[in-house]
Amino acid sequence: MVILGINAYHANASAAIVVDGRLVAAVEEERLNRIKYAAGFPAQAIQFCLDRVGAKLKDVDRIAVPRDPWARIGTKLRYALGMPRFALERIQVMRRFAGIREDLAATFQLDPSEIRAQLHRIEHHTAHMASAFFVSPFDRAAILSADGLGDFASSMSAIGEGPKMRVLGEVTFPHSLGMFYTALTQYLGFWKFGDEYKVMGLAAYGQPEYLDEFRYIVRSDGPLSFRLNLRYFTHQTQGPDMSWREADRTPVLGRIFSPYLEKRLGPARQPEEPLTERHRNLAATMQAALEEVLVNYWNGLAAKSGQKALCLAGGVAFNCIANGKIFDLTPFENVYVQPAAGDAGLSVGAAFAVYHQVLGRPREFQMNHAYWGPQFRAEEIRKAVEGIPSSDGVAIEELNEAELCQRTARHIAAGKIVGWFQGAAEWGPRALGHRSILADPRRPEMKDILNRRIKHREIFRPFAPSIVEEAVGDFFEKTHPSPFMTFAYPVRPEKRKEIPAPTHVDGTARLQTVSRRTNSLYWKLIRAFGDLTGVPVVVNTSFNDNEPIVCRPEEALDCFFRTRMDALVMGNLILRRKAAADAGRERPAQFSARQMS
Ligand SMILES: [Fe+2]
Repeated sequence: MVILGINAYHANASAAIVVDGRLVAAVEEERLNRIKYAAGFPAQAIQFCLDRVGAKLKDVDRIAVPRDPWARIGTKLRYALGMPRFALERIQVMRRFAGIREDLAATFQLDPSEIRAQLHRIEHHTAHMASAFFVSPFDRAAILSADGLGDFASSMSAIGEGPKMRVLGEVTFPHSLGMFYTALTQYLGFWKFGDEYKVMGLAAYGQPEYLDEFRYIVRSDGPLSFRLNLRYFTHQTQGPDMSWREADRTPVLGRIFSPYLEKRLGPARQPEEPLTERHRNLAATMQAALEEVLVNYWNGLAAKSGQKALCLAGGVAFNCIANGKIFDLTPFENVYVQPAAGDAGLSVGAAFAVYHQVLGRPREFQMNHAYWGPQFRAEEIRKAVEGIPSSDGVAIEELNEAELCQRTARHIAAGKIVGWFQGAAEWGPRALGHRSILADPRRPEMKDILNRRIKHREIFRPFAPSIVEEAVGDFFEKTHPSPFMTFAYPVRPEKRKEIPAPTHVDGTARLQTVSRRTNSLYWKLIRAFGDLTGVPVVVNTSFNDNEPIVCRPEEALDCFFRTRMDALVMGNLILRRKAAADAGRERPAQFSARQMS
């Protein structure tokens, strides 16, 4: 049975394909069309998924979309009566989803009647929860989805058992932890879609001085419930205004904090204004307020479900600082967060919800790695490299796996910045050792160097470490696996001086634990670096420069030449700028196929 999951008409458009209960491929549209957070219809992502299984659209048995226009229809209608703009938006959304078969047919130049697949509309949070629980290692677990808004709800919790999930509670519009975080992110002068990450990084620099005031803005009001004080917000009266520009398919969200919030907390920061201590303290307070509510929710869920395992999904599940505290502040002992926990992951969730929740088929798949995107053969990489003009001044060598790891480790230990392009692209927003830029964690100056030469990010944002899983306990105060960089743990105080580059100002790091079983080459590279330096850790940042993470070899080369990276490893090839090449090892950029073989 072939099930195609599609997250369409929404930011983070994506597609995933599940064959006989096993995920085969998944990718965000942004990786293919090169538009960050691309919204709209994910035509290229669907094509990739079909190609990966060698299927045509007419071979697909079921199509799953993570939106159900009929979910909570009574509540939606009540709001629509008092809010004509919202009613209009709802009608547009319903129209779009009603036309999905036609959009698919038009994209793939078929007659709609040729698409024999049955269409399933899966409620938004059901799809989020399915995206975590049904691919988790747990047979039974508590599940929480929390985000901005989807199908008129902002969170849902459930207990999962085998192929079924049973809902325990939900919080509906306009009360939303995602909206709370986004509103304060805007207030602090960060207006771009996805900027919440930045404010989470900023929070570590401040103190939660405004917590008493923030408890009026958001508060728990029961074991599985929370409330916003709506005086501080506008989305409940004006609609959340979440849309995207048709011209470039970039998602946009209008202002959602109210004048009252400014009256209480002072004027909002303008984007160009410098960040002051007050802004840092407000960011810290926002994070602390979120954590208070989440901890209460998690504990309520633990009590109600009686489970020790927890699955998280929805945008709030990316709050790695909060996630890192679960083990100390709740009874949960095991936590699974899927790598694409946000809305991109809905395509996977909708597909698995159909297979298990709808069709009742048993579970036999676990997502224990994130490498579900496009991959390229050695010949394709070689062809891309052969296109480099000799005037670009790079030395190129082909090495076997052991040499490749040794040489790359030596470069990193020498302070070089290395692009690392291997295997299938990551699913989700984190680079996890297949499309990564790597650097030496021991150098305190490396954060500035990475920012100056490659990433051009705000200086307060931390860089993350990848560590071989066997060494996690030596460096961190927690050892629960974090294969998808969704947890931040305190670095052991005595180790903070050893890995200053990825250790944040509060002493934590958002780590990736790397397993030999699921990413052998990356594990060997970090091990080689450890053998050389005594520190089996590398700084791992995404392979991009203010763009979606590179997907194809040509994009990696483009980023390599555009930025001031020292070396690029793609498959078994290592490219070094001649200035960075070792004396006597330099080779011309032009090379013959014989030299490469
Ligand atoms: Fe969502």
